[in-house]
Amino acid sequence: MSDFLLFLGRFHVVVLHLPIGMVLLTAIVYWLSRSARYKSLQQVLPVLWACTAVSALVTVVLGLLHFGEGGFSGPSASAHRLWGIVFALGTQLVCFLSYFKVTAYQRWGGALCAALLIAVTITGHYGGNLTHGPTYLVEYAPQSIRHLAGLNERRAPVTDLALVDPWHDVIAPILQSRCGSCHNSDKQRGQLDLSSLDALLVGGESGAVVLPGNAEGSDFYKRVTLPASHENFMPAEGKTPLTQEQVQILGWWIDAGLPAETSVSALSVDEETAALLSVELGLSPVPVMVAAENYQAVPEELIRQMVVSGWLVRPLSRDSNGLSVSINAIGQPASRDMLVLLNQAGASMVQLNLTSTGLNDELLAVLTDMPVLENLNLSNNGITDAGLDTLAGFKNLNVLNLYGNSAITAAGLEKLTSLESLAVIYLWGTSISEEAMLSLQTSRPDLEIHGQALPR
Ligand code: HEC
Repeated sequence: MSDFLLFLGRFHVVVLHLPIGMVLLTAIVYWLSRSARYKSLQQVLPVLWACTAVSALVTVVLGLLHFGEGGFSGPSASAHRLWGIVFALGTQLVCFLSYFKVTAYQRWGGALCAALLIAVTITGHYGGNLTHGPTYLVEYAPQSIRHLAGLNERRAPVTDLALVDPWHDVIAPILQSRCGSCHNSDKQRGQLDLSSLDALLVGGESGAVVLPGNAEGSDFYKRVTLPASHENFMPAEGKTPLTQEQVQILGWWIDAGLPAETSVSALSVDEETAALLSVELGLSPVPVMVAAENYQAVPEELIRQMVVSGWLVRPLSRDSNGLSVSINAIGQPASRDMLVLLNQAGASMVQLNLTSTGLNDELLAVLTDMPVLENLNLSNNGITDAGLDTLAGFKNLNVLNLYGNSAITAAGLEKLTSLESLAVIYLWGTSISEEAMLSLQTSRPDLEIHGQALPR
């Protein structure tokens, strides 16, 4: 199906609310019009029925296009389609009667209204299953109702880490809440159902998604660890991603060979994993992140001055004196005075974002005292090779972004080789040749280099 039709099809989920509202409204008006007091409403009914019929028809057509996207293979999908069509045909019928067969309409109108309301409810219910997964509605229902819906007993909340079942208590709930809306027994995007362990093992359209014992090699794990902007990143479509801890837990679980129907105590779970699991299950308070080394506290007055002068100053974390600083108004140039203030806070400056602040070598040289700086973004400034001398004293520098400083050449790069802590460098849009980048990579194989020389 062409992309354009698929594009239209997605509007199904927007437009579908219209016929629901229309049929409700029309039914209410219909019943009101049968009382003597509101008899005059009868005149508008044919128009209302026509609107209902048209909106239902459009919704069904869009729905069929949306269906063409694939991944709607379960029972709820076919039931939703069937009932949607029945409802739309029903509205056409009532509309037709209201215009052309008034006697029959007056006789059967009430029953038809009721039938349409029932049909739209059923359609909506199956549609809801598709959006939220078939078990969404009864997730928290009393057990008797869950039983009717074919669901097992809810697992008792865990209180003891030792008894936790890795699949049932940890992994399944994560997948249900973060992936379940697109990968359930009814709606299988990428032909992948994540609602049970068996289904997970079956995999998706490209085959197995988990390789027991090999998280790194598992598509399933790769997709949750990609950068969120990557087209293959999961969960797709901007849905709430997994937390860092959940990703680590998934990795552990796959590496451990997908343990299920067992307990944490039966597996030899190391301390770190046990801590992760406890946090995920809410068994222990989230450990407070304390920076490995804390930093010198910056005087309030200095922070105030920095803020007033145009810096956005944030603490690195709740319990750290470390600072993360960037310009408050993007694109505003940083003055010498502003840089002097930064330098005064150097003992606590851990992250510094100076992108597009109009820096040149001279201004950069104001920053002489940055002993703990780990992450420095100098992108889109006018820094040249000479300016890079300033960085030689940044002994803790881990990530450096020089993007868009077009005057920087291989000679400047040389000056950075003494920065042993440097792990990641961005060199796009500089004048450093690809050969120079390659030779840097050879001499520093551990360095992660991002970049490509400007075309000469
Ligand atoms: C908003 C919908 C949506 C959500 C939520 C979602 N996915 Fe997907 N997923 C898709 C779509 C669409 C595809 C097929 C397109 C593709 O392969 O990227 C897919 C494909 C996949 C595949 C590849 C299947 C194959 O064999 O090609 C994996 C693995 C996967 N998803 C894992 C996950 C995981 C894990 C989560 C939860 C963290 C998740 N997805 C949440 C929409 C979603």
